Amino acid sequence: MGLAQPPSPTAADIQGLFDRIAPVYDSLNERLSFGLHRVWKRMAVRWSAAAPGHTALDLCCGSGDLAFMLAQVVGATGQVYGVDFSAAQLVVAAERCRRTPLATPIHWVQADALDLPLATASIDAATLSYGLRNLTDIAQGLAELRRVLKPGAKAAILDFNHPPTALTAQFQRWYLETLVVPTARDMGLTDEYAYIGPSLDRFPTGAEQVRLAHQAGFDQAIHYPIAAGLMGVLVVSNCHDWG
Ligand SMILES: C[S@@+](CC[C@H](N)C(=O)[O-])C[C@H]1O[C@@H](n2cnc3c(N)ncnc32)[C@H](O)[C@@H]1O
Repeated sequence: MGLAQPPSPTAADIQGLFDRIAPVYDSLNERLSFGLHRVWKRMAVRWSAAAPGHTALDLCCGSGDLAFMLAQVVGATGQVYGVDFSAAQLVVAAERCRRTPLATPIHWVQADALDLPLATASIDAATLSYGLRNLTDIAQGLAELRRVLKPGAKAAILDFNHPPTALTAQFQRWYLETLVVPTARDMGLTDEYAYIGPSLDRFPTGAEQVRLAHQAGFDQAIHYPIAAGLMGVLVVSNCHDWG
């Protein structure tokens, strides 16, 4: 008999969790990835094909790392929507924006990625980092993302990946058990960070993500393993004209 999986968290559980960790989320991310998350996020921005003048979307934006990177690319003639359902994460994002003003308008929108308050075919380029894994309905999240993208627009979706070899799997387990959970424990967030392992176990593989993206209606979907396969970027694009 296999070990019972912990029950999947509800949307309210996930929203509460990200509200609680908002004050320390950025510093923990920085410590736990040794600053590498910024390199991977820049790759996602490049793969989204965001360009000057674009209206770009950072879905599940959290404290706004990718929204700020997108803003630098789309420039003063473009605009960025940063969407998240955690009010506390958006407060941190808006405060960062206030401290370092940019010429690009960034609209922070509190909303559910499964039901976006954005017009159909209104977005030129999108990113989603470490958010897909947290959606309670990944298929619906992908369909909603596709709905808001213009024909030809791309989205780059960065997240953890299922390790490709036994060695990388061992490393990932060691990383989660030896670094992530104890560091979070030191900051009084044991339960909050214990969610990463189970959420990764439930997360579709790269091949499954490609299949889900096609089912959601994307014409093109490619999953690129990065960081020795520990992370992955799913790049999707939408040729369909909504008419
Ligand atoms: C791990 S954080 C990633 C934040 C940011 N993208 C980054 O990479 O630093 C995941 C974010 O997804 C948001 N999120 C999860 N499910 C969501 C949903 N259904 N709708 C909107 N935001 C959601 C959480 O509130 C949280 O801020």
